[in-house]
Amino acid sequence: MTQSALTDSLRHLDLRRFREVSLLVAGDFMLDEYIWGRVGRISPEAPVVVVRVERETRTLGGAGNVVHNLAALGAKAAVLGLTGRDRPAEHLREKLTALGVDAGGLFADPDRQTTRKTRVVGEQQQVVRIDRETPLPGGPEYVRFALDFARARLPGVQGLILSDYAKGALPPELAPELIRLARERHLPVVVDPKGRNWRRYAGATVLTPNQKELEEVLGRPLGEAAELAARGQELRARLNVACLLVTQGARGMTLLDEAGALHLPARTPREVFDVSGAGDTVAAVLSLGLALGLPLPQAAALANTAAGVVVTKRGTAPILPGELERELTGYVHREEKVVSLRDLRFILAHLKAQGKRVVFTNGCFDLLHVGHVKFLEDARRLGDVLVVALDSDASVRQVKGEGRPILDQEQRQRLLAALAAVDYVTLFDSAELPRILAELKPDVLAKGSNYPEEQVAGREVVEAYGGEVRLVPIREDISVSGILHQIRNG
Ligand SMILES: Nc1ncnc2c1ncn2[C@@H]1O[C@H](COP(=O)(O)OP(=O)(O)OP(=O)(O)O)[C@@H](O)[C@H]1O
Ligand SMILES: [Mg+2]
Repeated sequence: MTQSALTDSLRHLDLRRFREVSLLVAGDFMLDEYIWGRVGRISPEAPVVVVRVERETRTLGGAGNVVHNLAALGAKAAVLGLTGRDRPAEHLREKLTALGVDAGGLFADPDRQTTRKTRVVGEQQQVVRIDRETPLPGGPEYVRFALDFARARLPGVQGLILSDYAKGALPPELAPELIRLARERHLPVVVDPKGRNWRRYAGATVLTPNQKELEEVLGRPLGEAAELAARGQELRARLNVACLLVTQGARGMTLLDEAGALHLPARTPREVFDVSGAGDTVAAVLSLGLALGLPLPQAAALANTAAGVVVTKRGTAPILPGELERELTGYVHREEKVVSLRDLRFILAHLKAQGKRVVFTNGCFDLLHVGHVKFLEDARRLGDVLVVALDSDASVRQVKGEGRPILDQEQRQRLLAALAAVDYVTLFDSAELPRILAELKPDVLAKGSNYPEEQVAGREVVEAYGGEVRLVPIREDISVSGILHQIRNG
């Protein structure tokens, strides 16, 4: 089987089935912090730049990024890990809770620091990274907690992921027990391994090292495919794991199981931006595939496809259902800018974590005219990304009355998506606006100046979370009703 034959066989996989899956993710949860600012001058104190801070953002890293990928695909996750008792641990909990994940399995140890990477970025260039962590394995109290937690949660999940970054959450006395407990229940166990001692992963279903990690464990470089297969199979047998899935960056991955070796080439990306986090996507998507009962080669091909997409995004980003579906069906039935509200949540969170300023506007945009185009261009200039929430046909009928819209929602979406000023279009119903704004938290809500500011729907919501409402001057001399009037009266 080749990668393309395998993805072909996945064409009809219903990705909504991910929503029925629940997984336990145990491992090293980390907080990725970004401090964004402008570089003004060289410091008088030392030969370094001075960054004037404009905003700070945070995202989930390590095992947290695995959970982020699962949540983005609609699956449920329970987490098990170790933090300090500090502010960063609270941020981790908040981020997980925002994904609908119960953070109750994070054990707060007052003697530890939560693992945290802080990046200072000046003018979109990383200036320095500051790492904070406690490089010690979790102690006996944590191990006891973890085993109790796993015993309580494993009956409710369809698989276990161990996301090991060697930061202490999977000490040698814990990992084997977790694997044993999961295997007792016949659950698939996927391990993203770290370090030299892989004995502790014995009995797992799949190990997903990258080639370099595998070479370090074997103590030698693996030149040719035949050598990788031979040495890998020996290790697989020694560790009694069903499969070794060796990821190979731009070359893709090689699956080693009892059937032999199968190489799956990487998807050829249009442009590679950031490969960090691709390994987390592999662990998440592979586990979802196995939880749905896909055979190993299919689950691996799905993971390979997903990872090939996330490397095209700046920063660590999860894979979205819409993207995976587009890859599998190979059929671009819609503009890439047209997205579901659900996917938009993850897209905007990611853009904001990248320091982007998000502008949001909503409307009917029936019979697109030059007044609309100018408004959208002006709105786009208020930030870096413009999102248009487009009233559905039902919503337009409610707002404008029977006989409208003239153009149906499909056509209106396509027209908006064709504009350079518009980055994303999503369908919505006017009545939902406050809830959508509260969820997406755009930096700016833009409306035409034909609305008095106090009448802008959603204004209170936006101001409550610290966003701003901006009125954009519009051309009074052109309107849809004016055009309609002109047509009707010849
Ligand atoms: N340059 C690339 N082009 C296409 N696909 C890629 C590229 N780099 C990585 N991938 C995809 O991502 C998968 C995992 O990448 P990689 O082998 O780099 O994992 P990793 O080293 O564990 O990553 P991480 O940085 O997340 O730890 C690959 O198997 C492949 O599917
Ligand atoms: Mg990795």
